[in-house]
Amino acid sequence: MIASASIEHRLAARYRIERLLGRGGMGAVYLARDLQLDRLVAVKELPEEFARDPILRERFLREVRMAASFSHPNIVPVYAVEEHEQSLAFVMGYVEGESLAERVRRAGPLSSREAVRLLLDVAYALAYAHGRGVVHRDIKPDNIMIERATGRALLMDFGVARTTQTTPTTGAGMTRVGEAVGTPEYMSPEQATGEAIDGRSDLYSLGLTAYFALTGVVAFGDDSAARVLVRQLTETLPSIATVRAEMPPALAAVIDRCMAKDAGNRFADSGALIEALDEVHAAAPDVPAAIRLFAQEAEMLGMVIGDLALFAVLFLTMRSLNVGFFDRMIPVMVILAVAAGRVAQTRAEAGRLLAQGFSVDAVRRGFQQTMNEREERREQLRRDPVIVGRRRKTVLVAVFQLVSAVVLIWAAFGSRQISDEKVFTPLYGVVMLFSGLACLGFALVLLSRSPLRMSVWERAFRSVWLGHLGAWFLRSAAGGAARPVNAAPIAGNTKPLPITARVESLETRVARLEKERHGVQR
Ligand SMILES: Nc1ncnc2c1ncn2[C@@H]1O[C@H](COP(=O)(O)OP(=O)(O)OP(=O)(O)O)[C@@H](O)[C@H]1O
Ligand SMILES: [Mg+2]
Repeated sequence: MIASASIEHRLAARYRIERLLGRGGMGAVYLARDLQLDRLVAVKELPEEFARDPILRERFLREVRMAASFSHPNIVPVYAVEEHEQSLAFVMGYVEGESLAERVRRAGPLSSREAVRLLLDVAYALAYAHGRGVVHRDIKPDNIMIERATGRALLMDFGVARTTQTTPTTGAGMTRVGEAVGTPEYMSPEQATGEAIDGRSDLYSLGLTAYFALTGVVAFGDDSAARVLVRQLTETLPSIATVRAEMPPALAAVIDRCMAKDAGNRFADSGALIEALDEVHAAAPDVPAAIRLFAQEAEMLGMVIGDLALFAVLFLTMRSLNVGFFDRMIPVMVILAVAAGRVAQTRAEAGRLLAQGFSVDAVRRGFQQTMNEREERREQLRRDPVIVGRRRKTVLVAVFQLVSAVVLIWAAFGSRQISDEKVFTPLYGVVMLFSGLACLGFALVLLSRSPLRMSVWERAFRSVWLGHLGAWFLRSAAGGAARPVNAAPIAGNTKPLPITARVESLETRVARLEKERHGVQR
């Protein structure tokens, strides 16, 4: 859609409208370039009837001024207000990404992990605003932007709801000028009845927002705003865990508590919510970076050994190689040596990891956790039509490469000239063979590494590393673990330290050099 000519004209002195970003109940939002500062901004134009009413106009300006004084990483900054005779627009930071509502519509519900992160981000923003005496009043999936590059959530439209009137009558999930304060689907019972509200009202809306983010369902949906509001006042939802059984019970409890009808049964404030979310986060801890790195290393080992085994079998079975069995064993021996080298290196790395204090069980738990995360991620991707479409194209490319590989390899071997001489003398035969093998390799890689399915390597990784073999390997590595570089020597240990342990600190080095030079110790 093209931006309205009038807004382009009105703002032309400073902004160039690039395109429409979206439309809400309060007007349209445009992407624009601030020509003075040469940066992208988002401009929200309010409806004319709003701009013409002097009381609404004044109230709006007061609220926007308050929002403009905020400076917080999880709040979309307000840069400026553009006042013209019949119009009112405000300029805010452009968030490259999508709203939570768009995100759930596009890719389905969030994973529990993503939901915890999003809730924490919004809770931080609310703690900041509530601490300054400002209640948002319109927390909903459309007012939370998710930045594409970082996954950070940013809350927007502070104060906009407050400037509108107090009888909520819409049913379209939007704030209507002169009609609603907040959006019925996400409005707390106390807000719906026009009672005095505090920050706990935002926590209720955030609870319903989380319900939507995790289930894709608007908890209190109806085509009539009146019926939605009746449901808000009278209907208690069953626990969110009954809709999404596999979510952590602690997270379900946090969301249920936010959605309590009586404000006294919710968290006392955003700070208490943040504490509870932190606990949920701690119950499913992140895998330590060292274990994550080692898991990658271990998976690489599987891939390398798999590839090398393939080559070894190829060498042993290639009849056209004009050499005897023992000669063919030479490259196989080289391959075995390389594989053994990789195993030794991985074992040494496992040893270092264990020497850092991680137990064999902790490493295996970390492996399991990384595998679970991947499965959760795949589950999400499988629901994303864009990713599924992209995967179909990749499979087509792979099939094309497979056919090319067969043709090229057939041409290389099938050519009578080559097979008669039993050697690769004609250059083109060799070139064709290697091109064919390369195509085959590419096709296999493309087919085996789907973002939607567990790869062969991952399957192998699971069965080896999470099974008896992996446990034995790690335990044996623990036995041969090198001491950490900076560990103090064990008293009475007369054996020479491994070379790594002989690295000295800067302080010791200075002391030693001075001692050598002056013959005295500092
Ligand atoms: N600062 C921004 N950066 C990027 N996109 C934005 C920004 N603000 C709004 N948008 C986009 O514009 C759409 C409409 O926003 P708007 O706030 O008008 O809608 P709404 O929240 O559904 O309605 P309302 O706030 O009026 O109740 C959003 O869903 C989002 O996609
Ligand atoms: Mg909005």
